[in-house]
Amino acid sequence: MTTVHTDQKTKTVPRHVAIIMDGNGRWARERGLPRVAGHRAGTENLRTIIRASANLGIEYLTLYAFSTENWSRPKAEVTGLMHILSDVIDRELDELNEEGARLIHIGHLKGLSKALQKKVRHAIDLTRGNQQINIILAFNYGGRDEIIHAIKAMLKDGVDPDDVDEDLVNQYLFTRDLPDPDLVIRTSGEQRTSNFLTWQTVYSEWYFPQVYWPDFDEDELRKAIEDYATRDRRFGALEES
Ligand code: IPE
Ligand code: IPE
Ligand code: MG
Repeated sequence: MTTVHTDQKTKTVPRHVAIIMDGNGRWARERGLPRVAGHRAGTENLRTIIRASANLGIEYLTLYAFSTENWSRPKAEVTGLMHILSDVIDRELDELNEEGARLIHIGHLKGLSKALQKKVRHAIDLTRGNQQINIILAFNYGGRDEIIHAIKAMLKDGVDPDDVDEDLVNQYLFTRDLPDPDLVIRTSGEQRTSNFLTWQTVYSEWYFPQVYWPDFDEDELRKAIEDYATRDRRFGALEES
């Protein structure tokens, strides 16, 4: 087994880990519980995963919590997910802030209730100066939506077509100033992107553990990082770049 050096200077630890937190509904169904109970259970491990990520030296942790397509779920489930986000902020914000986590949001806050928008904005403002770890919350996020949003903004700004290059596009995405994910983890065994970070993941390494998100613990994270350490990232060239 590969040993992961927890020293953040070592290359084996990804700088940016992005997680598609999937399988809450199936976790609940297997226990005879309502789906929303699965979503609640899926918030219990957040603190552990965030702390473990910071300890491993991961600088950016992106969490996909609600996609632009998740609006198509039954209204009660959508409302439940909104309440859960609100409760998680109430419950975790102070401690996250004390531990030096900075919260960033990608996606659209528009569409959320005014009160929830305010709560998310407050969390972002409060933690702006923190440097221990960046937590990027993808909520009401879609990769295609992000690209459309970027194209519209470029057109509105009257950008000269000759000036359009990857750097410029990056500046128009929600993820401006963030490095691309090195490792994307999707729990629950599903192997698809479901509209997650379409532009940013072209050279990410992917990892698909079988466990449902509520069962993804520190040990699972460690296994993912160890697996990542064995990958040979070539970026289209012939040797590790
Ligand atoms: C992931 O769990 C959470 C969200 C998409 C909001 P799911 O709710 O997709 O759980 P499964 O895939 O139905 O098990
Ligand atoms: C992707 O999971 C979105 C999140 C985990 C937030 P879904 O469960 O919504 O994706 P599909 O529908 O199975 O592709
Ligand atoms: Mg799912």
